[in-house]
Amino acid sequence: MTAHSTLIDRHERRWILISAALLASFAVLIGIAGFALGVQVPTLDRRVDPKKLNEDPMWSKPGVRELVPGRKYEVYLIAQTWQFVPREIVVPAGAKVTFYVTSRDIQHGFKVLDTDLNVQVIPGYVGKLSYTFKEPGEYKFICTEYCGLGHAAMSGVIKVVPPEEYTGSQ
Ligand code: CUA
Repeated sequence: MTAHSTLIDRHERRWILISAALLASFAVLIGIAGFALGVQVPTLDRRVDPKKLNEDPMWSKPGVRELVPGRKYEVYLIAQTWQFVPREIVVPAGAKVTFYVTSRDIQHGFKVLDTDLNVQVIPGYVGKLSYTFKEPGEYKFICTEYCGLGHAAMSGVIKVVPPEEYTGSQ
């Protein structure tokens, strides 16, 4: 009896060690994906009903909101087959821009070219990511998840203007 339970203990200890090693390697992999590759998993703390976006005060009028003039902005962006709403986003250079991205229907992707902004857009979840566009210019964003016939045409543009030329985006 005693010998038997010692054997089980030894097995259990081994499995605990293996589980811990697996968990540690997952954490490392997620870390590498998040920081090195720039892939961000949508934040799970904010959920939204994709069928009720029009009734939600934050989502019924997607687009740019100014929080602190010239310094802090947020963008509500909806992905749907096969377009982004809005398609054009205008922000001033040098400001911190926080994007909230969700889908109205199926899974899409949101990637801003020439930046590390890249997130999966999953209906029901809100992806949150921030960026400061230091230089004025046009930054194209695209859908990175195959979503059907119009996938390749699903894109938009962020126009980053000099702060003194910024007059709002609506
Ligand atoms: Cu939306 Cu691909």
